[in-house]
Amino acid sequence: MSTKEVEKKSSGGNPFQRLNQQLAGIEPGLDPIVMTIGEPRHEPPSYVIEVLEENKDGFRKYPAIRGTDEFRAAVGKWLKNRFSLSDAFNPDKSVIPLNGSREGLVFGCVSARDYLKKDGKPAVILPNPFYQSYGAGAHIAGADEILLPEPADGVLPDLDAIDPDLLDRTVAFYFASPANPQGTVAPMEYWQKLIKLARKHNFMLFADECYSEIYRDTPPTGILEAAEAIDGTLKNVVTFNSLSKRSNLPGARCGFAAGDPEFIQFFADFRNVAAPQVPMPIQALAVRAFGDEEHVIENRRLYNEKYDAAEEMLAPLFGSVRKDGGFFLWLDVSRWGSGAEVAEKLWRETGVKALPGAYIASDMPDGSNPGDKYIRLALVESLETSKEAFRRILDSLE
Ligand SMILES: Cc1ncc(COP(=O)(O)O)c(C=O)c1O
Repeated sequence: MSTKEVEKKSSGGNPFQRLNQQLAGIEPGLDPIVMTIGEPRHEPPSYVIEVLEENKDGFRKYPAIRGTDEFRAAVGKWLKNRFSLSDAFNPDKSVIPLNGSREGLVFGCVSARDYLKKDGKPAVILPNPFYQSYGAGAHIAGADEILLPEPADGVLPDLDAIDPDLLDRTVAFYFASPANPQGTVAPMEYWQKLIKLARKHNFMLFADECYSEIYRDTPPTGILEAAEAIDGTLKNVVTFNSLSKRSNLPGARCGFAAGDPEFIQFFADFRNVAAPQVPMPIQALAVRAFGDEEHVIENRRLYNEKYDAAEEMLAPLFGSVRKDGGFFLWLDVSRWGSGAEVAEKLWRETGVKALPGAYIASDMPDGSNPGDKYIRLALVESLETSKEAFRRILDSLE
């Protein structure tokens, strides 16, 4: 299917509110187990309060939009180690702090439009299903949203099928790896193909890599290393990441964008009048957390334990449920109804709150919705609670 055929405005809106409306007035069958929101609930690092206390004077100052020298150095060091970047990578030019990756993903789209100054109506390409903020970015940039579904679960979109004319008017292309909800990870060759398209057609490639540290056994390839391996530059690419998933600090609202130094400068200039800066004590926390891998290793271990339990308990009914990255289960429930119907049944019978896949996807022009067959379960609860949820799901569906 050509992407021309899939051009469509996304419905937008908040998937969790939509589910709450659907379930209003329905009593949960048992004590609720909420698996809808991807909000990490493992322990944050032990030093959070200590670092904030030590740096509390920083709350008295407006922070610089480019962040502190220490912040850029710490993020730069982490990126270099994690993705084997060359010494040419200069964090002072290529890194900017964000209040979590979400706001950067949204503001970035407006900057991409203004930076590239393309003629005509801009287009923004996003996966389907997708993190709803990509749609918000496209919306405020006044761009056409072009939806790119996976051909099948776990199969990456066919880049050769995208119309070159569409790529010419594209200003931003969002791509998540590991993907939420499917957990699919883009290999080096795929990234490189995408980067070459970005350079050929001159659009900004926005890699949402906030799940980069939540993986099963192999660290996902990052967009920056893929770009450097082509020609040593980061032209047309930006990665977005944060402490939210890596360090269980979604409430600290601390992340960064890193990549194409020319675009980052343009983005920083726009942000300097449009976006919130990151408080300095929070930047100090990021310096400490990006310098510490121990808590990240433990975090991964806890998720992997839950995937092992899910595989053991749920694979007999669903087939393998393991995902290369991220912390979601993406279950095809079509034998029992649509994702929305099954989510309601699970809530009514078992108190397990699952997110219907269709609520994080948009309808295609033919009326189909690539999330329709699925429910998404966030593995954010403890191992015991997760197992209890799996037992209840089996009781209800088996
Ligand atoms: C795919 C994806 N991207 C980005 C974000 C935003 O995360 P944050 O703003 O906390 O970095 C989330 C949060 O759930 C997400 O699931």
